[in-house]
Amino acid sequence: MELIQQQRVEQVDAYVSLCMAAQILDKPASILALATGNTTEPIYRVFTALVQESGLDVSGIRASVVDEYTDISVASPLGCRNRLQRLFVDTGLLEASQLIAPRLKSEIPLFTSLLDSLGPFDLQILGVGANGHLGFNEPGADPSSLVHEVPLTEETRKVLEKKYSQRGIHEPIPLSGITMGLKPILQAREIILVAKGREKADVVKALYQGPIEKSLPASFLQLHPRCKLVVDEEAACKL
Ligand code: GLP
Repeated sequence: MELIQQQRVEQVDAYVSLCMAAQILDKPASILALATGNTTEPIYRVFTALVQESGLDVSGIRASVVDEYTDISVASPLGCRNRLQRLFVDTGLLEASQLIAPRLKSEIPLFTSLLDSLGPFDLQILGVGANGHLGFNEPGADPSSLVHEVPLTEETRKVLEKKYSQRGIHEPIPLSGITMGLKPILQAREIILVAKGREKADVVKALYQGPIEKSLPASFLQLHPRCKLVVDEEAACKL
């Protein structure tokens, strides 16, 4: 895992958005997996501005969610697809047909076969939970897991509830999610894991310097040949 340390979060956002642009310049039909969350969404806003300013052609890409809440309503503000839709489709950057996401539990087989047919992801942009979760792969996740439904831990639901209520969203957090398993995540050609802020400092130290173990799903990224860990000064403060 290659450590890329930036001083400020704005520099993290600039770095990762430039990596996304470089990937698309290199392969205009890139298949991306884009985690949503407070860490990654500012990156996507910088990326959107970069594309709009530069005229970079993104019409050939496909972008998938990494995870989604199970059986939420089509317009739910919690939805990861809806968040990507607001960031990329409502801004005119992508067509809705370029986004890939399951919503219902019954759509898991379709999502799985679509990912199979598209082949391994060219680039995965990931955030990490303070407990080491990747997507909704919670501690204990099987490294060979494919797309699956997963119950959300009480800890994760509490963190999510707080984050959404800070954004004025007071919907109950669903009891489960659908997530890409660790296998398709680790099969990506390149992975960028992003962490910002002091509240991620412990997990950054553990996933980068600690043992690879099921209790910390993000530690499996140490096994990936092309994984960058991009952090700001605060997230790196315990390294
Ligand atoms: C959430 C999501 C993940 C996200 C992670 C970190 O629960 N399921 O996809 O990457 O936790 O979120 P944040 O960036 O808001 O800290």
